[in-house]
Amino acid sequence: MSIGLFDSGVGGLSVARALVRRLPQADFLYLADQAHAPYGGRPGEEVVDLTRDAAARLFDAGADLVVLACNTASAIALRRLQQDWLPGHIESLGRPVNILGIIVPTIEAATGMGWAQTADPALEKHPDILGVFATAGTVRSQVYEIEIAKRRPDIAVFGQPCPDLVPMIEGGAALADLAVAVQGYVADLTQRIGRAPDRAILGCTHYEIIAGLFRDALPPGTPLIHQPQATADALTGYLARHTEFDIGSGGARRFWTTGKAGPQNAMVQAFWGGPLSFEKAP
Ligand code: DGL
Repeated sequence: MSIGLFDSGVGGLSVARALVRRLPQADFLYLADQAHAPYGGRPGEEVVDLTRDAAARLFDAGADLVVLACNTASAIALRRLQQDWLPGHIESLGRPVNILGIIVPTIEAATGMGWAQTADPALEKHPDILGVFATAGTVRSQVYEIEIAKRRPDIAVFGQPCPDLVPMIEGGAALADLAVAVQGYVADLTQRIGRAPDRAILGCTHYEIIAGLFRDALPPGTPLIHQPQATADALTGYLARHTEFDIGSGGARRFWTTGKAGPQNAMVQAFWGGPLSFEKAP
């Protein structure tokens, strides 16, 4: 048994890296749907269908828990799958399994509040401005605006779509070109707000791979909320509460892609910290 990780491409490796460090004994199976990446510009129903197929594949391969290491899938598909599909699928599998996303832990980290906590009525609307850099699909879902407003009305959330970044990162674009693109998105957001954000969420797992470029483009010292860290913290707590899930103990790491098998680009391997090759998903 294992932990399944899913993303449209290499972005979820940022979450995988944090989870592997936190749970070195667990068995991990990573699935990248590179045949259909990027997800960010796809209609919602397609994202739901693709995410369901990926989760089913990971469960069939022995995952007890599937972590959607993708904001777009977490924002658009997670609730639908948990409500409409998972209960029946658990029955057909005959073992307990679950699907978790990465937005809840990110919002907990951004608000400093547990998911079950609600807004303190004494909180004034006095904006602390939070920028969310994400795919077009995640920004359109408004999940960060909606969920943060329920808990912390004193935080004003501004979403900034960055549609060029996922294809550039997947394609191994030069760092200098990525830097220009990131500077453009930061400038767009700054212009729209009227000033730079006070803090920012890198709300697409691919962007963690180039977190340094966001740090350079934002005013010095702007705090970034890191999803991989937040997800690792949340998953550790979840596993302590849910001992019914078997996450393996052999420290296995497998990497599957629906796209072209082979070594990942140099930027991705440098981020991962060593050679990294994906096998064709069976
Ligand atoms: N890493 C995915 C995310 O966090 C990228 C989605 C895409 O393929 O556009 O949203």
